Amino acid sequence: MSHAEDHEGTRRDFLYYATGGAGVIATGAAVWPLVNQMNPSADVRALSSIRVDVSEVEPGTQLTVKWLGKPVFIRRRTEEEISAARDVELSDLPDQGAENANIAADADASDENRALDETGEWLVMMGVCTHLGCVPLGDAGDFGGWFCPCHGSHYDTAGRIRKGPAPTNLPVPTAEFVDETTIKLG
Ligand code: FES
Repeated sequence: MSHAEDHEGTRRDFLYYATGGAGVIATGAAVWPLVNQMNPSADVRALSSIRVDVSEVEPGTQLTVKWLGKPVFIRRRTEEEISAARDVELSDLPDQGAENANIAADADASDENRALDETGEWLVMMGVCTHLGCVPLGDAGDFGGWFCPCHGSHYDTAGRIRKGPAPTNLPVPTAEFVDETTIKLG
């Protein structure tokens, strides 16, 4: 964050942004395609499916894990975050598609179609801004969700783009609960 003012020029590719919440990985680089050339190693890339223990994630915090070389946000939302997301009219959304790999491609972007579970407590999505690939910050922005400092994209508490240049909602990857406290990605 403290480097946000340095976002112009070649150094931008090497800036790091921290994301809010527990269990944050320290290697969220600004532009992932570049990072992918250096990291992770081939054997890590080969892990197309991983299991994540979410038992320590408190409401109102998120875990960021690296999967297929990219950050994935796993957020346990508060009641307020869920209600805020569910109160939004679809017509207010720049991208009205769910962008959720687990459901039909033409599903709408209602909060129910974005969350992992029926109560809406869990939200899993790629932590890569759909504009040019920066890693958005959690608990930030005008809509209480995520904010991408690179060019000012604001996402709401369902990870849907609300303001700024990002064209689409943060994608929800293939994910499911395999037991009460374990989420499988991929
Ligand atoms: S990369 Fe996020 S706003 Fe441009």
